[in-house]
Amino acid sequence: MYKTSQDARRWFSWSVAILFEMVGPRGHHGTPWGAPFLFWTVIHAAAYPGCLAADAPNIVFIIADDLGWNDVGFHGSNQIPTPNIDALAYNGIILNSHYAQSTSSPSRAALFTGKYAIKLGMQGSSFLPGEKRSLPEGKLMPEYFKDLGYSTYLVGKWHLGYSRWNETPTFRGFDHHYGFYNGHTSYYDYVGTKTYDGIDYNGFDLRRDGVPSFEDAGHYATDTFTEYSVKVIEEHDTSKPLFLMIAHLAVHAGNTGKLLEAPQDEIDKLRHIEDANRRTYAAMVTKLDESVGTLVEALENKKMLQNTVIAFISDNGAPTVAPHFKNWGSNYPLRGLKNTLFEGGIRSVAFIYSPLLIQSGRVTKDLMHITDWLPTLYSAANGDIANLDPEMDGIDQWPSLVYDLPSPRNDILLNINEKTRNAALRFYNWKLIVGTSMNGTYNEYYGEAVLDVISEVPYNTSAVFNSKAGRVIRQVSYTPLTETEYEQLRAEATVTRLDPKAKKNPCDPASGDVCLYDIPKDPCEENDLAKYFPSVVRRMKRALVEYRKTLVPQLEEAVDIENSSPKLFGFTWNPWLECSNAACTIPV
Ligand SMILES: *[C@@H]1O[C@H](CO)[C@@H](O)[C@H](O)[C@H]1NC(C)=O
Ligand SMILES: *[C@@H]1O[C@H](CO)[C@@H](O)[C@H](O)[C@H]1NC(C)=O
Repeated sequence: MYKTSQDARRWFSWSVAILFEMVGPRGHHGTPWGAPFLFWTVIHAAAYPGCLAADAPNIVFIIADDLGWNDVGFHGSNQIPTPNIDALAYNGIILNSHYAQSTSSPSRAALFTGKYAIKLGMQGSSFLPGEKRSLPEGKLMPEYFKDLGYSTYLVGKWHLGYSRWNETPTFRGFDHHYGFYNGHTSYYDYVGTKTYDGIDYNGFDLRRDGVPSFEDAGHYATDTFTEYSVKVIEEHDTSKPLFLMIAHLAVHAGNTGKLLEAPQDEIDKLRHIEDANRRTYAAMVTKLDESVGTLVEALENKKMLQNTVIAFISDNGAPTVAPHFKNWGSNYPLRGLKNTLFEGGIRSVAFIYSPLLIQSGRVTKDLMHITDWLPTLYSAANGDIANLDPEMDGIDQWPSLVYDLPSPRNDILLNINEKTRNAALRFYNWKLIVGTSMNGTYNEYYGEAVLDVISEVPYNTSAVFNSKAGRVIRQVSYTPLTETEYEQLRAEATVTRLDPKAKKNPCDPASGDVCLYDIPKDPCEENDLAKYFPSVVRRMKRALVEYRKTLVPQLEEAVDIENSSPKLFGFTWNPWLECSNAACTIPV
């Protein structure tokens, strides 16, 4: 009767969903909130009698840093085994058209506010150590969740300003922060380095609620952050929902002297990779993968997983070769890299997993933007969207994700940088790129061609199936996917370049061209269609002009190294300006 067990599952869950849609309570904006929770209750009540259907779900938000499209197995790459990440992605929803900003601080600003970076003056560069810039005042994602009764934790990277204490995470909505303030540090000794005017500045950057955590030096960052997160889960008071954001240092490069670091035994498992840098990078990725498996297991041990939403994203594409802090990651076959508006810079690795998703085990190519997470998760948490800032650009995607309905999003402002005059927009299948970043130096394809010989190992579906995450998911799922279904999903999530014989016109926006690509047909931006669709170009340019009116000019980079130098603070990067907020007390 059904072609695959997936069809059968779909039919089954749809019938139950429709049944509950008819009889269940309806939520505030006409969406059937009752359905997923009631459905979940019916399925899980016997196994987990302590849980209530009305409990807001726990949220675990994992951010990988500078992880490339081609660095995870579920996108079809056979280079780096990521069995836990893959198992979670297959059993959730692979978000194959998820866009972020092209660098760290802008992406995190958009994520935390639900607003386009241009509205925050955050469309330009990331914050540097000792910079006075910070994320503008205004309510942030963790504050919205605190209002809903959540305990809120940030583990790992902040990168949204720290010149004053009141700009740091525990003053901006997080009950607790364990991690670092700047963009990156080394993986074992947590030293962030920066050179200004030929002078090197080195500062320790790891803190527990603001207090330097020197005792953790020597312990590998990914393990450190994972162990802290597991403890948060183990000790969590389950009478409250948990909002746990784990913003890994992995797999960003460390510091200038120690670009790539991973435990040697992990590197040794990856001898199939010839390029030594790529091999160390791969070990950084496999440590990240192991962390994901450990977290899933911790959630299940605490009997929280059934009522948890796990989001996993990369903040931007990998800086394969440049411009600084390259990490040997790969976005191939996508074009460009971190810092560009080509797909390799902004179409970021992303998926969502939750037993609450009725229509899971699929790949969606519908548009999603990093600003959508705030309203989407707020909606998942039974929050009333009407309470969110009306200036928000994010769109609530929760009903679409839960029920496999079309995404409410048809366009995404990818960015407008008024200084470089580089802008891009998605509109249905189209992508328009105007101008270029970094003088157009990094508009090519990186990965296979650049990283010398990249050796592969056959994809081991059974290792994915039997990974920590794979095993745990099978325990909690009423209809777990089969290995064959894993393979089907993987094929669906794989992007391929145009046939070598197909007509191509890659377009060079550096030379002043405007480039137009049909992304579903040409995901690797090889064939410019601008001259064939002038009315589409006109319409999209007009949309950019409208967006431009809402742009807040970016602030000048304002490094104040004389006053912020780590030398003045016991060789730590430390807030150095007076608080601009009376409630601000310095942690001791
Ligand atoms: C772009 O070109 C200008 C002028 O030649 C130069 O000053 C600048 O450093 C270049 N930027 C990059 C990122 O290469
Ligand atoms: C694949 O992974 C399984 C573990 O699930 C292991 O037993 C098997 O040896 C692996 N196969 C290959 C070819 O490495």
